Amino acid sequence: MKEKITFLGIETSCDETAAAVIRENEKGTADILSNVVSSQVNEHKEFGGVVPELAARAHIENIDFIIKKSLKDSKITLEKIDGIAATAGPGLIVCLTVGLNIGKSIAAFSNKPLIGVNHLEGHALSPGLENKIEFPYLLLLISGGHTQYLIVRDVNNYEQLGTTIDDALGEAFDKTAKMLDLGYPGGPNVEKFSKLGNKNYYKLPEPIINKAGCNLSFAGLKTAVLRESKKINGNKKLRYNLAASFQNTINKILYKKTKIAIKAFKEKTQAKKVQLIVAGGVAANNSIRENLSNLAEEMNFKTIYPDLKFCGDNAAMIAWAGIKRFKKNLTNNIDISARSRWPLDKNAPYMKGPGLKL
Ligand code: KG4
Ligand code: ZN
Repeated sequence: MKEKITFLGIETSCDETAAAVIRENEKGTADILSNVVSSQVNEHKEFGGVVPELAARAHIENIDFIIKKSLKDSKITLEKIDGIAATAGPGLIVCLTVGLNIGKSIAAFSNKPLIGVNHLEGHALSPGLENKIEFPYLLLLISGGHTQYLIVRDVNNYEQLGTTIDDALGEAFDKTAKMLDLGYPGGPNVEKFSKLGNKNYYKLPEPIINKAGCNLSFAGLKTAVLRESKKINGNKKLRYNLAASFQNTINKILYKKTKIAIKAFKEKTQAKKVQLIVAGGVAANNSIRENLSNLAEEMNFKTIYPDLKFCGDNAAMIAWAGIKRFKKNLTNNIDISARSRWPLDKNAPYMKGPGLKL
């Protein structure tokens, strides 16, 4: 196989339209030849969340331009590219289909291999863009749609240790921002305004903190924030105090649950070197990074965080996952369909809905 593989990546699973050209380098990491992301924040702002039909329409309007720009920025032509990677799930079907279909067309007319990438695998492998990382590692994946602890044993080889039984962490941040009227997108604003408040002002619940291993729950915390937000009457100081207390409670939850996940990781892998990788949109949160780095010092493990531009949704991570899968001959046929649900560990129990026993 050729040494330095180059891929075009396409990402349209949610509200970012993105394309990137990535090439492997001799260090075993990636040369980012281009990385174009067009965010739809303005389209969704007035609704306080992602509206699927609007998102799909914006992808359709932007995708040609974004792909052309990524090729132009990369300064290489399509002939020099070894394959096309497009996100095939999980996510909003109407959005996924836009990027996947254009990926299929480019692969077909240029006669190149196609990889339908699992968006979560994109996040899981994203720190490898900049760091040479050895398997196995513990992954804390925290994004707008997912919150999971996974053992990453290899490309395409994942074991889920824990997950949220209700809301994703990014969703909890976004809803908190909405309840406190802190603006959209929620996560970065909660982080910003919590710096202005007293983190010990409110005592908020830490759901299932002493049970269910490293599974997580945020619904009860969200309800508590809602209850307190109704008493505030727009008082600025109290809103900041509530944001700070929410952020502090999240840190306490992640501290305790990560401790459990690290122990489980050690037991299951017998790994001498323990590495925690935190990826996904919420991994951009500095307070969470500091908190987990403190735990790492206490428990003697290493933490790795992707650069901020690779935390939120991007196509560099999709191209990178494509390269990694291509090297293992994990290519797809042109008839691959988009999937709204696509767990990385297909044997993991489904942890939502009535009848769940903890
Ligand atoms: O990975 P991502 O871009 O999209 C999904 O795959 O879901 O994650 C988006 C999520 C949103 O919920 C957003 O509010 C959250 O990441 N987020 C943050 C921060 N930056 C983005 N949450 C907390 N603090 C941040 N600084
Ligand atoms: Zn994502």
